[in-house]
Amino acid sequence: MKTIAVYPGTFDPITNGHVELIRRAAAIFPSVVVLVSGGPKKSPFFSAEERVGMVREAVDLCEGSIEVKCFRGLLVDAVRECGARIIIRGLRAISDFEYESQMALMNRRLNPDAETFFMISTEDHAYLSSSFVKEIASLGGDVSTMVPPGVDRSLKTRFSTPGQEKGEGIS
Ligand code: COA
Repeated sequence: MKTIAVYPGTFDPITNGHVELIRRAAAIFPSVVVLVSGGPKKSPFFSAEERVGMVREAVDLCEGSIEVKCFRGLLVDAVRECGARIIIRGLRAISDFEYESQMALMNRRLNPDAETFFMISTEDHAYLSSSFVKEIASLGGDVSTMVPPGVDRSLKTRFSTPGQEKGEGIS
């Protein structure tokens, strides 16, 4: 049976750190399903449809078998529905570990068959986060080296519309 690994997240928006992890996972596992959370936990800046679209565009040129799906409800249920047992999570710094280990233990309790695999980010992406990217873009900063081109475009479009935040300089 084909080993399927899922990589879940909010991806609000997907960054080059996420893409790098997906690329590395797809080189190891025969099939990777990127699960975009459409659940109510966070109030995302981009809609679920927009986030799925951005993830699809970002992984389009990655090698390997990669699918992108939206999920609502419990992650372990989505993992089962995908026919997977492996959950991939990225670790950027030691500070990620506490939250991630708690989530891994909870997911194992909910589904003892689900195994969480942690992958360490590369140094280039260890400090990236979706919130920082949004904050920088909202203040007119350049995030083009931090996110895929489609995300950069979407952020520029969103923050060029009236009423959205922009840097004001010093007064
Ligand atoms: N590169 C760049 N950034 C990364 C990263 C990487 N490799 N790995 C994590 N991040 C960042 C994200 O950008 C995000 O930044 P932000 O907080 O500034 O937005 C942050 O780390 C965490 O985001 P993400 O990886 O998307 O995880 P999440 O905590 O938002 O999502 C779910 C976690 C969706 C997997 C989890 O909430 C879930 O399973 N929900 C379903 C409900 C459920 O089953 N709950 C029980 C869980 S025990």
